[in-house]
Amino acid sequence: MNVLYVTCNPKPQEYSAYLTIGRELADGLRQLAPYAAFTQLNLYEEDIPELDFEVMTGRARLVEGPVYDRLRPEAKAKADRIRFLCHMFLQADRVIIAAPMWSLFFPGRLKNYLDCVILDGITVSITEQKVTGLLNDRERHLVYVQASGGPFHSLLLTPLNYGSNYMKTLAKTLGFAGFHALPVEGTGSTPQELHAAMNKAREEIPGLLEKLAPSQKG
Ligand SMILES: Cc1cc2nc3c(=O)[nH]c(=O)nc-3n(C[C@H](O)[C@H](O)[C@H](O)COP(=O)(O)O)c2cc1C
Repeated sequence: MNVLYVTCNPKPQEYSAYLTIGRELADGLRQLAPYAAFTQLNLYEEDIPELDFEVMTGRARLVEGPVYDRLRPEAKAKADRIRFLCHMFLQADRVIIAAPMWSLFFPGRLKNYLDCVILDGITVSITEQKVTGLLNDRERHLVYVQASGGPFHSLLLTPLNYGSNYMKTLAKTLGFAGFHALPVEGTGSTPQELHAAMNKAREEIPGLLEKLAPSQKG
């Protein structure tokens, strides 16, 4: 089993609610699956290319074949990096993405990353008629750990939970068998609120690990 843990925050873990919870989830999974290969990708430390015109046009064709061969060296390096990130994502049986809610969504860097890993012919197949996810070849799961100041999983605010709603749609589109939201919500502005939010999220971890464990699902 391959586990990919993607984090997206400039903060160090000790200052971050969702990085702490994300790490606890990843560590729990590591204990359940000691033979799994774990890869961590910190989007604020790694090179995550932003798509420019040259790389954007027919992205999948740019990562190999004659279109790739004609690229300038800088664009080729960018395409190589995109291919590397995409294949890393493709190899993962369990993907944990941990991010904060920023202005009702997630940080732009995570969107850059997703634009790199959603590639026609590798993770999706795009025709004029439809878009088909190619990640339904085995039992893959995507977990989205999101910290937010407010309680966005409450009935009233669920429609405004754009980051989590988007991740759910994306997981389904790509063909993941399971999508799991792990909210760390209501982190508020006091240490009490923060700890309450983290403890509530912690309670979800054992149940979630049961769904992610390789013995049952993989
Ligand atoms: C730039 C920025 C934008 C934010 N936007 C929202 C928001 O739209 N809604 C919300 O509930 N909290 C928002 N917050 C609060 C964070 O989601 C909250 O503090 C969360 O706990 C951050 O996670 P962390 O402590 O793990 O970094 C925002 C924080 C920052 C820094």
